[in-house]
Amino acid sequence: MFTCKRYYLRLLIIITLLAVCILCCCNDQQRDDTEGKDSGTTTVSIDPSFTTKERLGKLLFFDKSLSTPPGQSCSSCHAPEVAFADPELDLPVSRGSRSGIYGNRNDMTVSYSAFVPPLHFDKEEAIWVGGLFWDGRANTLSEQAQGPPLNPLEMANPDTLTITKKLQALSYAELFTEVYGPDALNDPGTAFTNMAVAIEAYEKTAEVNPFSSKYDYWLRGEAELSEQELRGLKLFEAEDKGNCAACHPNRISEEGLLPLFTDFTYDNLGTPKNPENPFYALPPELNPDGFDFVDVGLGETVNDPAQNGKFRVPTLRNVALTTPYMHNGVFKTLFSLLAFYNTRDVTEWPTPEVSENVNMEELGNLGLTNQELEAIVAFLKTLTDGWNESDSNQQ
Ligand code: HEC
Ligand code: HEC
Repeated sequence: MFTCKRYYLRLLIIITLLAVCILCCCNDQQRDDTEGKDSGTTTVSIDPSFTTKERLGKLLFFDKSLSTPPGQSCSSCHAPEVAFADPELDLPVSRGSRSGIYGNRNDMTVSYSAFVPPLHFDKEEAIWVGGLFWDGRANTLSEQAQGPPLNPLEMANPDTLTITKKLQALSYAELFTEVYGPDALNDPGTAFTNMAVAIEAYEKTAEVNPFSSKYDYWLRGEAELSEQELRGLKLFEAEDKGNCAACHPNRISEEGLLPLFTDFTYDNLGTPKNPENPFYALPPELNPDGFDFVDVGLGETVNDPAQNGKFRVPTLRNVALTTPYMHNGVFKTLFSLLAFYNTRDVTEWPTPEVSENVNMEELGNLGLTNQELEAIVAFLKTLTDGWNESDSNQQ
């Protein structure tokens, strides 16, 4: 009896230990699963007015199973709460799906990129205009959407076959056949393009491009700007003050379109390197130049050194939500960025990342006071979407 009791007692201890072990493992597993900024599942709510293609596009945009390893979706780096830019605001660039891997550039907002024209050379002005990404290397949103899934610094899939298998395994895979017919997912080339075209359809919806900022309401005569915001607007437009509108147009166009705050052209503003860019420290197979890496931007896209250091003028819509700033995330606040525009040529700033082709005419010595810079910041904050009248007391 006694030995039997001891036997059961031992068995009980062993079972308890085993249970503890299993629990620990599960916890570890859970920790692994939730590591990184965006693993686990997200419930995606779909606007009932969406077409099937838009619905499919949204599901794909938010689907974390489409990276290798799984855990990263487009929305991991383009989250709706920050105007479809990177929610990890204290990182100058974006984290890849593989641990310890970073991209080389600051994230961009996907909102309003549907309006970016394809890259072209304007013969009259003799300048490059349009193109997606900071350096204009993609012409359409569907072409763009085929970049991240295969980029080793982003969603890191080895090939389109891997992605096709992932697409075939989706719980909503039948939407592909509904939109593109029975062969939609049969071969990798077609499946991958179909995926990208659906994502483009979603990126073109009003959900991603809402034009619902306080400034939009003001342009339509439906909101009042505060005295400081109005002062900021004037400084933004005045050629002898901020002169911002020269590149970031802010008025309704001749065709009656709401402003996008970019003329889609390219400039080298003399933006300094960002020594905090974690890309510099990546191994040589991912970054052969190490800390000497220089981002030449448009120059590489068009294979012309005269364009080195130039980046596309970004939209300023929702800019208050999309810290940090510039192609390399070197400025953490709007005020510090404006201080750079204001005094680049008159006080000590670090040297430009690319010292050729710097725009010396339109910025660098604006002569604005701190109060004026604050007013421009206040104006920029009116460009955040989702404003409604109950916010009207907000600055
Ligand atoms: C790891 C983070 C990351 C992921 C994942 C990611 N992006 Fe991006 N996205 C970026 C970065 C960084 C840039 C700017 C890169 C550059 O200019 O070279 C960018 C740029 C873009 C742009 C260009 C915007 C413009 O105005 O030119 C679009 C559109 C876009 N991404 C859509 C997507 C879509 C669609 C997916 C999913 C298929 C996706 N991104 C996945 C980080 C990411
Ligand atoms: C000559 C054209 C030009 C003028 C004038 C100009 N900008 Fe820009 N702006 C750019 C370019 C190009 C970039 C991107 C530069 C880079 O990444 O290195 C930029 C970037 C920005 C950004 C960062 C946006 C982001 O998403 O990272 C803000 C904010 C901004 N500009 C505001 C302003 C304001 C405010 C003014 C007026 C004081 C102004 N700009 C004047 C061309 C211009």
